Amino acid sequence: MLEIIEEHLKAISIVKIKTKEESEAFRIRYLGKKGFIQALFSEFKLVKPEDKKATGAALNTLKKAAENALLSDVDDIKINKNHNQEDYTRPGYSNLPGAQHPISLVRNEIVNIFERMGFVTTEGPEMEDDWHNFSALNFPLEHPARDMQDTFFLSKDPDWALRTHTSSVQVRTMEEQSPPIRIIAPGRVFRNEAISSRSHCVFHQVEGLYIDKDVSFADLKQTLLAFSKSFFGEKTEIRLRPSYFPFTEPSAEMDIWWGLENEVDHRMTKGTGWLEIMGCGMVDPAVLESCGIDSKEYTGFAFGMGIERIAMQRFQIPDIRAFYENDLRFLANFKGA
Ligand code: DAH
Repeated sequence: MLEIIEEHLKAISIVKIKTKEESEAFRIRYLGKKGFIQALFSEFKLVKPEDKKATGAALNTLKKAAENALLSDVDDIKINKNHNQEDYTRPGYSNLPGAQHPISLVRNEIVNIFERMGFVTTEGPEMEDDWHNFSALNFPLEHPARDMQDTFFLSKDPDWALRTHTSSVQVRTMEEQSPPIRIIAPGRVFRNEAISSRSHCVFHQVEGLYIDKDVSFADLKQTLLAFSKSFFGEKTEIRLRPSYFPFTEPSAEMDIWWGLENEVDHRMTKGTGWLEIMGCGMVDPAVLESCGIDSKEYTGFAFGMGIERIAMQRFQIPDIRAFYENDLRFLANFKGA
């Protein structure tokens, strides 16, 4: 038996398999149920006990040699380079599916809700001049209100800066269109602030503006209530707190009732149970006039919110920096969200 095994081994060592078909024929001949090797294994019980060890080892060597001679998929692709292009029935190579960024998810959800109410999505440049970012919005030169937003200035003359808020898109829209105007403007904004777990020098806002005849504060309140119920849930309650912005009069901050049941609620709401979501107000007549809209004929409301804050609350993300690090372990959490 040992001689027969030797002969097979020799034959295998000189065989050159080039195609899948040859490989399959070889497999059937040697390793198939009725192949040489199976036959030898069946005869193994007739081998004398003292020869069993050596013959068994040789048989195993033969089996390994036959298996190694088969064409692997990788060899097959190497030898037959065009194989994949020719055989369209082969399964394709799978790609790793990506995920939408949490900021995109929240932005799209906010924008979709307002689009359903009839607001039109609009965008503006990230590099702005003083007029669109400040002056037209009723921030006079040297006015302390400009200090509310630390600015990255780019040049003095012309006076370029990175926009500190998306309210600049209000100005551009009012300059170009006549009322009725209903826009929602998402985008990136920049502030010269120290980076920490709560604030960053680059973040995102969504601005809203509605200008028409007879727009009132009640319209503002109902619009924001409808948005809040749609975004945060049907049972959401809101409150409007008096505030100050140069471009709105009166101005307010809108909070949603968050609850005050545990320590996290206390921390998130600074012990009040209310969570601040956005700034808003009636567009100051001076702003309408700056943009060429007759403030005796038209009134309007505006609002602006930070996307990161809302995304942090929605996805329980404790550190704003996670949004910009592009760590795949973080981003993979939003697959299918
Ligand atoms: N621009 C403000 C900010 O960046 C947010 C804001 C407040 C926008 C009130 C508005 C508004 O349109 O009416 O803090």
